[in-house]
Amino acid sequence: MSVWHISGGRPLRGRVAVQGAKNAVLPIMAASVLFPGVTRLTNVPELRDVDATVRILRRIGCAVERSGHEVTIDSRYITGAEIPHELMRELRSSVIFLGALLARCGAARLSMPGGCELGPRPIDLHLGALRALGARIDESGGDISCSVPDRLRGAAIALPIPSVGATENAMLCACRAEGETVIMNAAREPEIAELQGFLNQLGAGVSGAGGPTVRVRGGIGSPQLVRHRIMPDRIVSATYLAACAAAGGDVELTGAEPEHFSTVLRSLSETGCDIITEGASVRCVSRGNLRAPGPVITGPYPGFPTDAMPLMLSASLKARGSSVFVENVFQNRFRFTEELRRLGAKIHSEGRVAVVTGVDELYGAPVSATDLRGGAALIIAALSAEGKTDILDAGHVGRGYERFDENLAALGADIAKEG
Ligand code: EPZ
Repeated sequence: MSVWHISGGRPLRGRVAVQGAKNAVLPIMAASVLFPGVTRLTNVPELRDVDATVRILRRIGCAVERSGHEVTIDSRYITGAEIPHELMRELRSSVIFLGALLARCGAARLSMPGGCELGPRPIDLHLGALRALGARIDESGGDISCSVPDRLRGAAIALPIPSVGATENAMLCACRAEGETVIMNAAREPEIAELQGFLNQLGAGVSGAGGPTVRVRGGIGSPQLVRHRIMPDRIVSATYLAACAAAGGDVELTGAEPEHFSTVLRSLSETGCDIITEGASVRCVSRGNLRAPGPVITGPYPGFPTDAMPLMLSASLKARGSSVFVENVFQNRFRFTEELRRLGAKIHSEGRVAVVTGVDELYGAPVSATDLRGGAALIIAALSAEGKTDILDAGHVGRGYERFDENLAALGADIAKEG
């Protein structure tokens, strides 16, 4: 078990280069198997979820080479369409291989994916979209067996929820379907537009990503080497800025895309932080005596990102006044607040609403990370608490943050990782 020891009360000062986006690279790695060929990805973050995806790619026959932030995937020889449970359970986005393998092999056999425990995370919308494209899907217990009795045909798919994963699975599978597919009420996250760009590099014909309707025309693939640089991670960007807001100081992000997390920047400004953006640089200056931000209401993009809500909530724990957080995406997103209360935070949560009343001080204590962004929120709170905080089960954080402890230490934090 990984334990992080943090002694708070020190401001953060310096510069951080933003890592590649976890939620962009994972579906793109799955998409690389759609057509036989070689894909070279750069700006790939070094994360446990990327490691797990490499294991899945190798398991189905891809040759994968890694060198720092570069990953090369040779998908010319797929040897199997089955992903064992022990690989599926490591992360949520393993489910995206369903669409990729159905499209490439006409079959897929896998089980329910893993990922952060944020409440029920069914995949019914994924399966419904793939059935609409012509897949036959049998579910027994947690096992999912898929085949294509005839062939994949373009379809009109109306998603009741703009699910990110279901949109991605439908896009991938539609790339090898005959005719056009129209995905309505599609997710509009920036990672969807990034995936569209990559799929078009592969030779598919995808348009409309970023809006509510995505159109896909099946392609034949492009034999040459496809090179793609992964976009910056908007949630990791928000994390470093929220840490600066909470601990005080002056932190500049480089290689960021501020328009991808403008809702977070607006909330940070409401607390009294100075936010200065110039191109790919975003700087946060915090004198520590924050005001409570206005209501933070999460929702599908372009709404406030659910993944950034725990970060903003932690940054508000010592802000003057009360702040309201409404979580509209996941049922159990507030689990981490129980741990924040151990540090002296005043949080009242009922269902999808949490109200934070600012306190003068937080005090270090042992706490446990419950999930990826909840763990990051505990780290942010510990940085602004008096005394020493031990964060148990901090391994969750390594799934989505590259060298988080080293980067925070370089900014002046007193932090040590054990295990
Ligand atoms: C993606 O998860 C992200 N993960 C999540 O980030 C992010 O919080 C989420 O999108 C929302 O933005 C990756 O991209 C790997 P959804 P995903 O399908 O695709 C319900 C992080 O911290 N739903 O948009 O699983 C679902 O239960 C992670 O980086 C169904 O009911 O999210 C949820 O309530 C956490 N049936 C809502 O839709 C389905 O078939 C949105 O989920 C699928 C989803």
